[in-house]
Amino acid sequence: MPAQLRVLRADITTLSVDAIVNAANSSLLGGGGVDGAIHRAAGPELLAACRLLGGCPTGDARLTAGYRLKAKYVVHAVGPVWRGGEHGEPELLASCYRRSIELASAKGARSLAFPSISTGIYGYPVELAAKVAVSAVRSALVDHPLIEELIFCCFSAADLAVYQSVLDASSA
Ligand code: AR6
Repeated sequence: MPAQLRVLRADITTLSVDAIVNAANSSLLGGGGVDGAIHRAAGPELLAACRLLGGCPTGDARLTAGYRLKAKYVVHAVGPVWRGGEHGEPELLASCYRRSIELASAKGARSLAFPSISTGIYGYPVELAAKVAVSAVRSALVDHPLIEELIFCCFSAADLAVYQSVLDASSA
Protein backbone atom coordinates (compact mmCIF):
# COMPACT_ATOMS: atom_id res chain seq x y z
CA MET A 1 0.00 0.00 0.00
CA PRO A 2 1.44 3.43 -0.85
CA ALA A 3 2.46 5.62 2.07
CA GLN A 4 -0.09 8.02 3.43
CA LEU A 5 0.97 11.65 2.88
CA ARG A 6 -0.42 14.09 5.42
CA VAL A 7 -0.14 17.76 6.19
CA LEU A 8 -0.23 18.82 9.81
CA ARG A 9 0.17 22.12 11.63
CA ALA A 10 2.33 21.40 14.66
CA ASP A 11 5.58 21.88 16.49
CA ILE A 12 7.59 19.04 14.96
CA THR A 13 9.35 18.36 18.27
CA THR A 14 6.07 17.11 19.76
CA LEU A 15 5.29 14.45 17.15
CA SER A 16 5.20 10.74 17.96
CA VAL A 17 6.74 9.43 14.78
CA ASP A 18 9.74 7.17 14.23
CA ALA A 19 11.84 9.97 12.75
CA ILE A 20 11.66 13.73 12.41
CA VAL A 21 13.70 15.71 9.94
CA ASN A 22 15.65 18.79 10.98
CA ALA A 23 16.30 21.75 8.68
CA ALA A 24 19.96 22.01 9.63
CA ASN A 25 22.98 23.88 8.29
CA SER A 26 26.13 22.24 6.99
CA SER A 27 27.93 22.49 10.34
CA LEU A 28 25.20 20.36 11.97
CA LEU A 29 25.99 22.26 15.17
CA GLY A 30 22.57 23.80 15.69
CA GLY A 31 21.05 27.15 14.85
CA GLY A 32 17.74 28.99 14.99
CA GLY A 33 14.31 28.06 13.66
CA VAL A 34 13.29 24.43 13.75
CA ASP A 35 16.93 23.41 14.30
CA GLY A 36 17.06 25.33 17.57
CA ALA A 37 13.72 23.91 18.67
CA ILE A 38 14.81 20.34 17.96
CA HIS A 39 18.09 20.75 19.85
CA ARG A 40 16.30 22.28 22.83
CA ALA A 41 13.75 19.48 22.95
CA ALA A 42 16.21 16.64 22.34
CA GLY A 43 18.71 17.83 24.95
CA PRO A 44 22.49 18.31 24.87
CA GLU A 45 23.16 14.72 23.83
CA LEU A 46 21.97 15.66 20.36
CA LEU A 47 24.64 18.32 19.92
CA ALA A 48 27.28 15.90 21.23
CA ALA A 49 26.21 13.34 18.61
CA CYS A 50 26.17 15.97 15.85
CA ARG A 51 29.71 17.06 16.72
CA LEU A 52 30.93 13.58 15.81
CA LEU A 53 29.42 13.75 12.32
CA GLY A 54 31.82 16.35 10.92
CA GLY A 55 29.20 18.36 9.05
CA CYS A 56 27.12 17.56 5.99
CA PRO A 57 27.03 19.03 2.48
CA THR A 58 24.01 20.93 1.18
CA GLY A 59 21.47 18.56 -0.36
CA ASP A 60 22.48 15.69 1.89
CA ALA A 61 21.48 14.45 5.35
CA ARG A 62 22.81 12.64 8.42
CA LEU A 63 20.97 10.60 11.04
CA THR A 64 21.23 10.62 14.83
CA ALA A 65 19.16 9.28 17.68
CA GLY A 66 16.31 11.43 18.97
CA TYR A 67 17.39 11.42 22.63
CA ARG A 68 14.70 13.19 24.70
CA LEU A 69 12.31 13.50 21.75
CA LYS A 70 9.44 11.10 21.24
CA ALA A 71 10.91 10.41 17.82
CA LYS A 72 13.53 7.67 17.84
CA TYR A 73 15.64 9.35 15.16
CA VAL A 74 16.46 12.82 13.87
CA VAL A 75 17.50 13.18 10.25
CA HIS A 76 19.50 16.38 9.83
CA ALA A 77 18.97 17.62 6.27
CA VAL A 78 20.85 20.60 4.87
CA GLY A 79 18.65 22.57 2.53
CA PRO A 80 19.88 25.19 0.06
CA VAL A 81 19.88 28.91 0.74
CA TRP A 82 17.55 30.55 -1.81
CA ARG A 83 19.62 32.60 -4.25
CA GLY A 84 16.98 33.23 -6.92
CA GLY A 85 16.38 29.66 -8.05
CA GLU A 86 19.07 29.40 -10.71
CA HIS A 87 21.76 27.95 -8.49
CA GLY A 88 20.56 24.38 -8.27
CA GLU A 89 18.16 25.11 -5.42
CA PRO A 90 15.33 22.79 -6.60
CA GLU A 91 17.68 19.85 -7.16
CA LEU A 92 19.40 20.37 -3.80
CA LEU A 93 16.07 20.64 -2.00
CA ALA A 94 14.72 17.51 -3.70
CA SER A 95 17.90 15.70 -2.74
CA CYS A 96 17.34 16.60 0.95
CA TYR A 97 13.94 14.93 0.88
CA ARG A 98 15.20 11.85 -0.95
CA ARG A 99 18.27 11.38 1.27
CA SER A 100 16.19 11.83 4.42
CA ILE A 101 13.77 9.13 3.30
CA GLU A 102 16.67 6.82 2.43
CA LEU A 103 18.33 7.24 5.84
CA ALA A 104 15.12 6.90 7.83
CA SER A 105 14.05 3.87 5.86
CA ALA A 106 17.45 2.22 6.34
CA LYS A 107 16.79 2.36 10.10
CA GLY A 108 13.37 0.79 9.67
CA ALA A 109 11.35 3.96 10.25
CA ARG A 110 7.70 3.59 9.27
CA SER A 111 6.62 7.14 10.03
CA LEU A 112 8.53 10.30 9.20
CA ALA A 113 7.81 14.03 9.57
CA PHE A 114 9.43 16.86 7.60
CA PRO A 115 9.44 20.57 8.36
CA SER A 116 9.28 22.95 5.42
CA ILE A 117 13.01 22.78 4.70
CA SER A 118 14.74 25.99 3.51
CA THR A 119 11.60 28.15 3.65
CA GLY A 120 12.44 29.99 6.88
CA ILE A 121 15.85 31.57 7.44
CA TYR A 122 17.07 30.19 4.08
CA GLY A 123 14.39 32.13 2.18
CA TYR A 124 13.09 29.54 -0.29
CA PRO A 125 9.59 30.63 -1.44
CA VAL A 126 7.20 28.22 0.21
CA GLU A 127 4.95 27.75 -2.85
CA LEU A 128 7.97 26.59 -4.87
CA ALA A 129 9.48 24.55 -2.05
CA ALA A 130 6.21 22.70 -1.41
CA LYS A 131 6.03 21.56 -5.04
CA VAL A 132 9.61 20.26 -4.91
CA ALA A 133 8.96 18.58 -1.56
CA VAL A 134 5.78 16.77 -2.63
CA SER A 135 7.22 15.58 -5.91
CA ALA A 136 10.53 14.45 -4.38
CA VAL A 137 8.74 12.59 -1.61
CA ARG A 138 6.32 10.86 -3.98
CA SER A 139 9.16 9.59 -6.12
CA ALA A 140 11.43 8.54 -3.23
CA LEU A 141 8.63 6.63 -1.48
CA VAL A 142 8.26 4.36 -4.50
CA ASP A 143 11.69 2.95 -3.64
CA HIS A 144 11.05 2.86 0.13
CA PRO A 145 7.76 1.05 0.68
CA LEU A 146 8.52 0.47 4.38
CA ILE A 147 7.45 4.04 5.12
CA GLU A 148 3.73 4.03 5.82
CA GLU A 149 3.14 7.58 6.93
CA LEU A 150 4.84 10.78 5.85
CA ILE A 151 3.88 14.10 7.42
CA PHE A 152 4.58 17.57 6.12
CA CYS A 153 4.69 19.41 9.44
CA CYS A 154 3.89 23.09 8.92
CA PHE A 155 4.42 25.74 11.55
CA SER A 156 1.96 28.34 10.25
CA ALA A 157 -1.59 28.20 8.93
CA ALA A 158 -0.40 29.84 5.71
CA ASP A 159 2.21 27.13 5.10
CA LEU A 160 -0.35 24.46 5.91
CA ALA A 161 -2.67 25.82 3.20
CA VAL A 162 0.16 25.86 0.66
CA TYR A 163 1.25 22.27 1.33
CA GLN A 164 -2.35 21.05 1.41
CA SER A 165 -3.13 22.57 -1.97
CA VAL A 166 0.06 21.23 -3.56
CA LEU A 167 -0.66 17.79 -2.14
CA ASP A 168 -4.27 17.86 -3.34
CA ALA A 169 -3.18 18.96 -6.82
CA SER A 170 -0.55 16.23 -7.00
CA SER A 171 -2.96 13.45 -6.15
CA ALA A 172 -5.76 14.66 -8.44
N1 AR6 B 1 8.21 22.81 14.15
C1 AR6 B 1 7.94 22.81 12.83
N2 AR6 B 1 8.35 23.76 11.98
C2 AR6 B 1 9.06 24.79 12.50
C3 AR6 B 1 9.39 24.88 13.87
C4 AR6 B 1 8.93 23.83 14.72
N3 AR6 B 1 9.19 23.81 16.01
N4 AR6 B 1 10.11 26.02 14.06
C5 AR6 B 1 10.21 26.62 12.86
N5 AR6 B 1 9.58 25.89 11.92
P1 AR6 B 1 14.00 27.34 9.41
P2 AR6 B 1 15.66 26.86 7.00
C6 AR6 B 1 9.42 26.13 10.48
O1 AR6 B 1 14.37 28.77 9.42
O2 AR6 B 1 14.93 27.89 6.25
C7 AR6 B 1 18.69 27.33 11.20
O3 AR6 B 1 19.41 28.33 11.88
C8 AR6 B 1 9.60 27.54 9.96
O4 AR6 B 1 8.41 28.30 10.20
O5 AR6 B 1 13.99 26.60 10.70
O6 AR6 B 1 15.91 25.54 6.34
C9 AR6 B 1 19.58 26.21 10.70
O7 AR6 B 1 20.64 25.95 11.61
C10 AR6 B 1 9.81 27.25 8.48
O8 AR6 B 1 8.55 27.02 7.84
O9 AR6 B 1 14.99 26.47 8.42
C11 AR6 B 1 20.09 26.77 9.41
O10 AR6 B 1 21.19 27.64 9.61
C12 AR6 B 1 10.58 25.92 8.48
O11 AR6 B 1 10.44 25.41 9.81
C13 AR6 B 1 18.91 27.54 8.89
O12 AR6 B 1 18.15 27.90 10.03
C14 AR6 B 1 12.06 26.04 8.17
O13 AR6 B 1 12.56 27.24 8.71
C15 AR6 B 1 18.04 26.69 7.99
O14 AR6 B 1 17.03 27.49 7.44
